[in-house]
Amino acid sequence: MAHNVLMIMPGFPGEMPYFTRGLDNVGATVWGVAPGGANELPEMARYHLTHYLSVPSLFTNADDAIQQIREWTRGVTIDRVCCLWEPGVELAAAIRAALDVPGQTPERARRFRNKELMKLALGKAGIRVPRHVSARTIKEVQAGAERVGFPCIIKPIAGAGSQDTFRCDTQAELDAALKQLGHIEEVSVEEFIDGEEFTYDTVCAGGVIRYFHVGYYRPRPLVARSVEWISPQTLSYRHVDDPWVADGRAMGEAVLKALDFDTGFTHMEWYRKSDGEVVFGEVAARPPGARTVDLMNFASDIDLFTGWAEAEVHGRFTLEVERKYNCACITKRAQGQGRIQRIEGLDRVGERCGEAIVAVDLVPVGSPRRDWKATLLSDGYLSLRHPDWQETQDMADFVGEHLHLYAG
Ligand SMILES: Nc1ncnc2c1ncn2[C@@H]1O[C@H](COP(=O)(O)OP(=O)(O)O)[C@@H](O)[C@H]1O
Ligand SMILES: [Mg+2]
Repeated sequence: MAHNVLMIMPGFPGEMPYFTRGLDNVGATVWGVAPGGANELPEMARYHLTHYLSVPSLFTNADDAIQQIREWTRGVTIDRVCCLWEPGVELAAAIRAALDVPGQTPERARRFRNKELMKLALGKAGIRVPRHVSARTIKEVQAGAERVGFPCIIKPIAGAGSQDTFRCDTQAELDAALKQLGHIEEVSVEEFIDGEEFTYDTVCAGGVIRYFHVGYYRPRPLVARSVEWISPQTLSYRHVDDPWVADGRAMGEAVLKALDFDTGFTHMEWYRKSDGEVVFGEVAARPPGARTVDLMNFASDIDLFTGWAEAEVHGRFTLEVERKYNCACITKRAQGQGRIQRIEGLDRVGERCGEAIVAVDLVPVGSPRRDWKATLLSDGYLSLRHPDWQETQDMADFVGEHLHLYAG
């Protein structure tokens, strides 16, 4: 049987060529669609695609894009439509609906994207979500803050990467945030949840969770995004049967059930307060970004890019998952502006962490440093793994402290 899979964005962001390869690995014929020309595709994506269509209007005019895709695939039965990148999740659902392809519907996709619809559905299902109000005007934000109380969080209704997210402890901070919110049409005003921040990520097939993963952020993403000198860490937690994460796992299962998720990758964030209470953060119908799928793979020596593809295309998941390691990805931000002049401390990190290091990908000397607010990977990262949780964190801190990039 032919398995024709339409893959939106087969080459970007960085993980996508691996997912494209995964689809090819499990026997799918992959039809890639993106706004750019075929020549812009990374080599790996190009190699594993059978067909490619450049649709410049893909993210600007859905009707036009769907029309082009319809013409292009005329006479072919498309079996799956996937997009593992947040901005295209709803578009993929719209294409499914237009081409009559099974999979997540636009209505379901919306509840994974719109943070108010999401929390309304989950609250209805009895899941603990932060107190929340949606707001479209300054007056509504003000009224919302009064309802949820200080401290509160103001964030875009469908954001990503902590962009345009404000913690307001006082009216003065709220006023300051309002001044910066002008360009956003609709925001969520939420009760601020003080606690530690985790993820619960899955691969599902046929409405069943076939693989799950628990991640941990050090520090919380909003703090990491607000303070430049921090080297943010994303960790993969090995001891998933610990009480520390039990309520979060249970919440994750309940969330997917309440939102009726069927097949594919999911990425949920959740908070654990100091009194142990667990609170929902957000959930997306796609994998986590910023190389976290690599951490999941390093933790168990598996290939989830292919594991996901098997679930997507064949409705099965046959990877053997043994949790052998905790993992950490430490992202670095250069000091100074301009081009990277030198990288210091790699030798010391090598001595300290040795074979625990599984990946190093830093912006090379001579290249311009990146805008640390615009990319979660900042000026590059180092990933490591170790069976012991405390040792994993200690090594990650060592990297944060001793590895430095200097720009000038
Ligand atoms: N209600 C909240 N209480 C505490 N922190 C929050 C709350 N909402 C968001 N945050 C902080 O802001 C970050 C980004 O918010 P999130 O809802 O995850 O949006 P994004 O889609 O940008 O990741 C979170 O990781 C968390 O650190
Ligand atoms: Mg988030």
